[in-house]
Amino acid sequence: MVLSFGYKKMARLAHKHTSSTKIVLVISCAGLVGAALIANFIWASFSSSYISIASNWAFEKSGIVVVPNVTINTPDKREAADGKRKTVPERFLSATFADLPAPDLHWEEMPPAPVPRLDGASIQIENLLYVFAGYGSLDYVHSHVDIYNFTSNTWGGRFNMPKEMGHSHLGVATDGRYIYVVSGQYGPQCRGPTSRIFVLDTENKKWKSLPPLPAPRYSPATQLWRGRLHVMGGSKENRHTPGLDHWSLAVKDGKALEKQWRTEIPIPRGGPHRACVVVNDRLFVIGGQEGDFMAKPGSPIFKCSRRHEVVYGDVYMLDEEMKWKVLPPMPKPNSHIECAWVIVNNSIVITGGTTEKHPVNKRMILVGEVFQFHLDSLTWSVIGKLPYRVKTTLAGFWDGWLYFTSGQRDRGPDNPQPRKVIRDMWRTKLKL
Ligand SMILES: *[C@@H]1O[C@H](CO)[C@@H](O)[C@H](O)[C@H]1NC(C)=O
Ligand SMILES: *[C@@H]1O[C@H](CO)[C@@H](O)[C@H](O)[C@H]1NC(C)=O
Ligand SMILES: *[C@@H]1O[C@H](CO)[C@@H](O)[C@H](O)[C@H]1NC(C)=O
Repeated sequence: MVLSFGYKKMARLAHKHTSSTKIVLVISCAGLVGAALIANFIWASFSSSYISIASNWAFEKSGIVVVPNVTINTPDKREAADGKRKTVPERFLSATFADLPAPDLHWEEMPPAPVPRLDGASIQIENLLYVFAGYGSLDYVHSHVDIYNFTSNTWGGRFNMPKEMGHSHLGVATDGRYIYVVSGQYGPQCRGPTSRIFVLDTENKKWKSLPPLPAPRYSPATQLWRGRLHVMGGSKENRHTPGLDHWSLAVKDGKALEKQWRTEIPIPRGGPHRACVVVNDRLFVIGGQEGDFMAKPGSPIFKCSRRHEVVYGDVYMLDEEMKWKVLPPMPKPNSHIECAWVIVNNSIVITGGTTEKHPVNKRMILVGEVFQFHLDSLTWSVIGKLPYRVKTTLAGFWDGWLYFTSGQRDRGPDNPQPRKVIRDMWRTKLKL
């Protein structure tokens, strides 16, 4: 099984990191990128070397534990995302960009969100999905919250965010009443980040602020766990360099119980756009990427320009031991999933995302699958197809229905590159 082979190899290499030399690291990094493409190779041994070295450093420091069983429940066959693949010698391609075979799900179209939204954030509390911020277009960002009611299946309840709050790439978490909104990008295009943190009391729609993060981050993995707000990873101030730092702050009922953030065990791999989930008293960090678009040097509007990115499917877990454990990776590398997950029946369900770029034309490739991570067996399944490929979806689950809204969809069934920023809301009845 070609797909899982790469992952098994990766897991083994990760395991070896503790005793390996830099040469092994460069090879493993190139393997991640998608193997033998020469351009990638040069990049891997050159401009990204800081990434692999930084990762290795964290592996050593954290005394990481690799859980040995890597089992991925995906069908054996894979299909090309487009015809072009066939014109290229197969051994050069990792095919991680291709759609995975998946059963069809019956999707029902629901009322669209009031605005199109990309890189926004969402939090579900009971039957309400709070949807924050996001780009309307690259040159326009939202500064308000919309609410979807899963009982009436209607949108409403719009209210403003604090003026100083970030507009995209936020970290979000909730205790069921208070919503913590952490750091992120301030403004449109590829502007700088803010380290400000705000708390929304959903009972009265009032905002308060918390002590700022020690340093700002774009799209940091964020969760409430054991009475503390945990923030880790993300991209650093230049929007591209992965941060490994992990901080926490004791919080209760929307208030900080401490004046300062505590430094916690760094995450083995940094970078933005990952799912961060607390379930069964464990903290999971899933997927993501290293690198992101950056502001073009000297551009007065901070125009976004593409930089090299590596998308990955790694799954890391913290438990009471407070040591990172490596769990079986996603069926394919997947990023832009920070609010694209729900917890259902002792499993984590993830909708859409972005995967490794196309190895030949280098275009960004969207993901159209629904994944399930079984928390009992620690295995992954591909459980269905979305109505189209789409990234940064905002997902919810209510009364047996899986919902998603927002994000950026593909150009069509035959073209997995991103195009339209959407307002669509869809749902499907889940049977797990
Ligand atoms: C690993 O998988 C094998 C075969 O499926 C199983 O027998 C074994 O118990 C698993 N080990 C762990 C640690 O889960
Ligand atoms: C959500 O919709 C239900 C059904 O119409 C309604 O009873 C409830 O008050 C709504 N909740 C909010 C917060 O508007
Ligand atoms: C969750 O499990 C329960 C009990 O097995 C089952 O009745 C229910 O349909 C499951 N939910 C989904 C969404 O599959």
